[in-house]
Amino acid sequence: MPSAILTLEDFLGSSRLRSESQMQQSLSALHVMPERLVEAMRYSTLLGGKRIRPCLVYASAAALGAPQEQADAAATAVEFIHCYSLIHDDLPALDNDDLRRGKPTLHRAFDEATAILAGDALQSLAFQLLAEASCVQSDIRLKMVTLLARASGCDGMIAGQSIDMAAVGKQLTLAELEIMHQLKTGALISASVELGALSANCRDESIFSALREYARCTGLAFQVQDDILDVVGETSVLGKTQGADIARNKPTYVSLLGLDGARRKAHDLVEQAGAALSLIPSDTSMLRAIAQYITSRQH
Ligand code: IPE
Ligand code: IPE
Ligand code: MG
Ligand code: MG
Ligand code: MG
Repeated sequence: MPSAILTLEDFLGSSRLRSESQMQQSLSALHVMPERLVEAMRYSTLLGGKRIRPCLVYASAAALGAPQEQADAAATAVEFIHCYSLIHDDLPALDNDDLRRGKPTLHRAFDEATAILAGDALQSLAFQLLAEASCVQSDIRLKMVTLLARASGCDGMIAGQSIDMAAVGKQLTLAELEIMHQLKTGALISASVELGALSANCRDESIFSALREYARCTGLAFQVQDDILDVVGETSVLGKTQGADIARNKPTYVSLLGLDGARRKAHDLVEQAGAALSLIPSDTSMLRAIAQYITSRQH
């Protein structure tokens, strides 16, 4: 898919369709599982979501010349991890949310035990997919598994979620808030970009380093926009309850910097993300456009 002749909208549309069809195929291939568990996994993966992380995997792979098939396992794995993180994030013990992607959260639509187990199963399935991705060279596959494990576990997303829970009702400094956001959201976004590069068999450390800086800025900008939308978004457009952070007294970029300050921060981060891409000697226009989209999105 040559990115230069595609609009962002076309690219996002086709990447979303592709990742949804890949997730569908992976779930359909499971036959030994209890019906209710599979139904819950399907409910929380196939019905909605922007698929930003698979889009980043495909965009980064395409920028480095990989065919889409080579990036399918990584795109699917990262979205499965993301969906599992949302299921658990919404549980009564964490954010206790009722609405996700415009529908009742999984524990409301099913029950809490099923939600916990469906999240667990999606996490394992993500790693299984990467480990079994036969079209990826085995040393690269190992790197992918390690990268995703680090980004999603106690060095990444789970650490961020843990800090987030401990921060409820507390005042964080800007530096502390940034660490929390980088971990809870940035880590998986960065992993998506790096997984795309690994799918393209990239071994050039200078490219990884530029992509990491792009992803660091883009991932942080993503969570800044999520915080902004909690204040200015509409529940019907967001598909999740507007004002949930304020209601739970969560520290956010808006609570620390105000709305204008948060918007400026998001804008500056997108500029920095674009600057990092200029160090890569191939067509990274789609990655640049995705960073802009991330902070202009309304849901
Ligand atoms: C929401 O992520 C949770 C955060 C990490 C901020 P997304 O905004 O990507 O959620 P979906 O996948 O589109 O529903
Ligand atoms: C969730 O952050 C991050 C993860 C799921 C890892 P939020 O709690 O801000 O996400 P939303 O706003 O519920 O989507
Ligand atoms: Mg949360
Ligand atoms: Mg939440
Ligand atoms: Mg949020």
